[in-house]
Amino acid sequence: MASNNNPLSAGPIGFGLMGMTWRAKQTPDEQAFAAMKAAVANGATFWSSADFYGTSDPLAGVKLLRRYFETYPEDAAKVKIFIKGCADPATLAPTNDREGVRASVEKCVAVFGDVKKIDIFGPSRQNPGMPLEETMGELKALVAEGKIGGVGLSEVGAETIKKAHAICPLSLVEVEFSLWSTDILTNGVAATAKSLNIPIVAYSPLGRGFLTGQLKSVKDIPEGDIRAYFDRFQPENFDKNLELVDKLTAFAQNKGVTPPQLALAWVLANSNSASCGTIIPIPGATTSERVEENTKIATLSPNEKEQLDAILNSVQIVGGRYNKQLEMTLWG
Ligand SMILES: NC(=O)c1ccc[n+]([C@@H]2O[C@H](COP(=O)([O-])OP(=O)(O)OC[C@H]3O[C@@H](n4cnc5c(N)ncnc54)[C@H](OP(=O)(O)O)[C@@H]3O)[C@@H](O)[C@H]2O)c1
Repeated sequence: MASNNNPLSAGPIGFGLMGMTWRAKQTPDEQAFAAMKAAVANGATFWSSADFYGTSDPLAGVKLLRRYFETYPEDAAKVKIFIKGCADPATLAPTNDREGVRASVEKCVAVFGDVKKIDIFGPSRQNPGMPLEETMGELKALVAEGKIGGVGLSEVGAETIKKAHAICPLSLVEVEFSLWSTDILTNGVAATAKSLNIPIVAYSPLGRGFLTGQLKSVKDIPEGDIRAYFDRFQPENFDKNLELVDKLTAFAQNKGVTPPQLALAWVLANSNSASCGTIIPIPGATTSERVEENTKIATLSPNEKEQLDAILNSVQIVGGRYNKQLEMTLWG
């Protein structure tokens, strides 16, 4: 296993559980448990979920975790979970006031019971109208009460990280970071997290599957899939963005690794570098085979990293990470 100075996980890579439950097609427990077991076996022991990762039942993601730890109690102490919450399940509007924060934690605690402690908890988005002192103050109180082990923030900008960390120390910041979403390198998030020694959890490190090369056309996006609503996956942008995937796939073939392994290697090559502190990518996958593949760590030589950066500079990604409607919720 590659060297690891990640405080969140036994290995340098973590695991994202969104796809198991927040999709039209739910992953059956047998398959989900095998994937989760494979993650533990391969040191991917930092797991990220949310109290709204469900379709008919928003708590489906949290309930899956409960069933897993009930079945494998020996893994409860090995795995650190980050649960995002404080969102109206119907609209996903932030509920970051005192009552909303507490209610979100309480409903997760009620599901977990004694089976698993919530290691880290935090709002999935900021509410610009809500003073950070109120949100962070309540989270701090919940840590003091022992209801949660620590606090993490998701999709936040540099100023929020600084202010929040001063109110209550942050255990992590979860933001999108991948070969086609490099904003944190230039918007101050990576630099701020590094200066405050806060680990960054890199979400969608495989570009929501786009960077794996498995999607050849918009027709490969299943019906009802959330990606169909995001700008980069729109028909007019999709094919243009494939240029990057084609170049990366050729690079991966030359190196003798798979495209997902290359994508994760690039994220890890940024971790503990001149510009970034610790970064832990959390690829999502619903099968043990994919988890096995994603946790086989490939490393990049400095020269390979430079070549990949040159490829990124040679290609223009078309379309935002989300869409116009959601744009204002990003880097909150
Ligand atoms: N904080 C936030 O706002 C936020 C937003 C989005 C995501 N996240 C977190 O980040 C985690 C990961 O993000 P994500 O799931 O959006 O995107 P991702 O990890 O970039 O990509 C996941 C996609 O890639 C596919 N995949 C994974 N490994 C593969 C492999 N080896 N070969 C081929 N395909 C592979 C998955 O397929 P299957 O799943 O079908 O196996 C899934 O479609 C989520 O679980 C969630 O915890 C957080």
